Amino acid sequence: MSVKIYLDESEIPRQWYNIAADLPTKPPLAPDGSPLTPEMLAPVFPMNLIEQEVSTQRWIDIPQEVLDILYRWRPSPLKRAVFLEKALNTPAKIFYKDESVSPAGSHKPNSSVPQVWYNKQAGTKTLTTETGAGQWGSALSFACSLLGLTCKVYMVRISFDQKPFRKVMMETWGGKCIASPSTETQFGRKILEQDPNTPGSLGIAISEAVEAAVSDQTGSTKYTLGSVLNHVMLHQTIIGLEAKKQLAKVGIKKPDVVIACVGGGSNFAGISFPFVHDVINGEQIDIIPVEPASCPTLTRGIFHYDFGDSAGMTPLLPMYTLGHNFIPEPIHAGGLRYHGMSPLVSKAAKDGLISPRAVHQLECYKAAVLWARTEGGIIAPESSHAVAATIQEAIKAREEGKEKVILMNLSGHGHLDLAGYSKFFAGQLVDHSHPQEAIEKAEKELEAFPEA
Ligand SMILES: Cc1ncc(COP(=O)(O)O)c(C=O)c1O
Repeated sequence: MSVKIYLDESEIPRQWYNIAADLPTKPPLAPDGSPLTPEMLAPVFPMNLIEQEVSTQRWIDIPQEVLDILYRWRPSPLKRAVFLEKALNTPAKIFYKDESVSPAGSHKPNSSVPQVWYNKQAGTKTLTTETGAGQWGSALSFACSLLGLTCKVYMVRISFDQKPFRKVMMETWGGKCIASPSTETQFGRKILEQDPNTPGSLGIAISEAVEAAVSDQTGSTKYTLGSVLNHVMLHQTIIGLEAKKQLAKVGIKKPDVVIACVGGGSNFAGISFPFVHDVINGEQIDIIPVEPASCPTLTRGIFHYDFGDSAGMTPLLPMYTLGHNFIPEPIHAGGLRYHGMSPLVSKAAKDGLISPRAVHQLECYKAAVLWARTEGGIIAPESSHAVAATIQEAIKAREEGKEKVILMNLSGHGHLDLAGYSKFFAGQLVDHSHPQEAIEKAEKELEAFPEA
């Protein structure tokens, strides 16, 4: 069997799959708990993306000009991890979608390109955003440079310090990258007054980016989010739709297990939603989102309405949350340090369609090193969560003597994450468990908001 399965450019999916058609969720609410109207979102997002956000149409056409940009690296290869299989002596067949081949090094440009394109159509000139690991900020800078928009990125302080070269990548594509919390926004200044040494969080960086967008009186600055929202999940489904076609090329009708890491949910939704569709229609597939044990949103969080950011500027979303005031431990998987979760991924978990799992940091680094020494690639610390769970499943298949087909999403490379690897080799990384008191504190705080 081939180790690499390619699709021709002519075989690229021409529509995204919108799971909102098959998995109804409660609507977002305004910060005061009242119904949210599209007009209320208009200062933040262009109307064409707001329409996509609330759409329940099952299939949505991918604009040709978006495809023309995606062709730079898509369709991405589906590869078989035969060397890892051998090392684990497993009868499982492990396939992975390699999203590290994009110009920014991860799955994130699958959504940054359409988001910038729809914004351009609507007349937006400048986009603001937050970034955790720096992948989304890079992806947005890349898309803005191709489509001629200005890009301003608030990067979580801890990642800004851990990964200085992400900033240089953004600058190379013409973007501006600022450590968050910053002195540029009211909210950033408030947080810095309370704790000048804060590592920051995605929640804080989102608040700053939203504030920067809505305070531009001309209306030509909008905000973009690299995960969590429905339209981002939609754009990423190109990953799973391609994977289906690629598996079919080698005679595989369906995988037994689908695995991806989860921060806000986008690469997981991307690979898995086309298969969640099959589960909704009666197929048996084990679909596993993998999160850090130090930020266990799906496995230990509360299903409730909560803010997507720390300042309470975003709508209230019905999702699993650890509370919007929670600042996760500064682990090296910066893109997974988020208190909330995509409402669509949350609903799939709540309905038992997917089976979330939490893994500790050290197990993930061990998995990443085994991956590098077998498959070869040096992967992002976020992706290492998916690899750790894949190894767990491959060992389980060996113990059960089952020839399972495992499909994993490799969300990004780790070429700019070597500081984390270096600390791992020096024995300086530790596992953090999320304290029960923090869950109880969040439960109390959430009482102020409606139940989901
Ligand atoms: C390589 C990589 N994987 C995964 C994630 C997590 O994001 P999401 O859950 O939206 O896929 C990030 C976020 O920055 C990332 O950079």
